[in-house]
Amino acid sequence: MKKSKQPRGKAAPSQAVPSRTSGIQPVIIATKNLTKIYGKKSAEFKALNGINLEIRRGESVAIIGKSGSGKSTLMHCLALLDAPTKGEIFIGSHLATKLKKRRVNRLRNKNFGFVFQQFFMNARDSVLSNVELPLKIAGIRHRERKRRAMEALRIVELEEKAKSRANDLSGGQKQRVCIARAIVNNPSVIFADEPTGNLDSVTGARVEDLLFQMNKEKGITLIIVTHDEDLAARCSRQIHIKDGKILSETASTVKGGSK
Ligand SMILES: Nc1ncnc2c1ncn2[C@@H]1O[C@H](COP(=O)(O)OP(=O)(O)O)[C@@H](O)[C@H]1O
Ligand SMILES: [Mg+2]
Repeated sequence: MKKSKQPRGKAAPSQAVPSRTSGIQPVIIATKNLTKIYGKKSAEFKALNGINLEIRRGESVAIIGKSGSGKSTLMHCLALLDAPTKGEIFIGSHLATKLKKRRVNRLRNKNFGFVFQQFFMNARDSVLSNVELPLKIAGIRHRERKRRAMEALRIVELEEKAKSRANDLSGGQKQRVCIARAIVNNPSVIFADEPTGNLDSVTGARVEDLLFQMNKEKGITLIIVTHDEDLAARCSRQIHIKDGKILSETASTVKGGSK
């Protein structure tokens, strides 16, 4: 995480973000009393109802729960894509819920990668230009952008598709392009919402393996919304959500282990 020069939005050292202690990784995302209310007055709906959590660097966290329980809302808040109605979100030493929009955008672009179905690519553009997009937003120059995008495509084994139109790829290949785009800015966290939801089991397994490979080799923290029990069990921790609250948390002994 980049350090903030601005005192505004900076967390006091005693709050939520302890410094590195031996063996224990630092907290990179924390929430306090996170609450999200949709609608107004009689139409009010509390999608998140006082979520407190801490996620440490290098963890793989599954967010699980029934449809409508608030998983996507929680993920969108953690990823700074949506603002909570109440409560606080800490990203490293930053109190993100107090930062100006422009700084929130920068924090998100620098540190997060996304594998979301609804954030799909520009179908008519080439695979390469889709993967380059986060770097373009970050203001990286053309040559460096291309180099890094090709490197990300190499990792997902789609180098040879760089010039293809995104739309001409299979579902599994598209999802791998999304992973390439998610890792191209070298993020500390990848957020994935049902990353294997629309894929057959063989293709899904490959996408999963790639995510855990990023977790193990690059130390990228994974936060995954999933209905898939096997995928959830592969994560180091499972957070069970019900009616916008944390129902329980479990931990796996085998981190990112093979199925
Ligand atoms: N933009 C919105 N406006 C009103 N209600 C919403 C909105 N987004 C989600 N909700 C409601 O909030 C609840 C949680 O939604 P969501 O986080 O998408 O659940 P999940 O991802 O667990 O299926 C649901 O009841 C849903 O209908
Ligand atoms: Mg959802």
